[in-house]
Amino acid sequence: MNVFTLLKADHKKVAGIMDKLDSTTERGVKTREDLFTQLKTELDVHARIEETIFYPELEKADETRDITLEAFEEHRLVKQLLAELENMDKGDEEWTAKFTVLKESVEHHVEEEEGEMFPKARKVLGEEQAEIIGTRMDAEKQKELQAATAA
Ligand SMILES: [Fe+2]
Ligand SMILES: [Fe+2]
Repeated sequence: MNVFTLLKADHKKVAGIMDKLDSTTERGVKTREDLFTQLKTELDVHARIEETIFYPELEKADETRDITLEAFEEHRLVKQLLAELENMDKGDEEWTAKFTVLKESVEHHVEEEEGEMFPKARKVLGEEQAEIIGTRMDAEKQKELQAATAA
């Protein structure tokens, strides 16, 4: 499994869930809650496999170090917003406003990864490493998703 194929597929899935959430209203609280739970699980697992397997490789190389440190910070911000959204009333206008900020933050982060980080990472890792890392990340992802749905 190529790491870039894996991560881009995740990004697409997350974008799909965010689009659906975007069209919910304060009156559709149940739908909102279900979609938000899905979104949070996807983002949590995605961030974790990036942070524990992918980013550490990129941190080591000069070409990808700065953008990777920035990505870690963006993850922190997204997690903070997710935690706040989780604890807020999904029927509030404030929730809608904060969700919009989350969506924009995730979109910005994904643009930087796909537009800037991945092309550099392709060179840094090479084909073979991209396969090895991708396979490890996919295995870890399946394990975590199973644990998340079993909980
Ligand atoms: Fe990502
Ligand atoms: Fe990321």
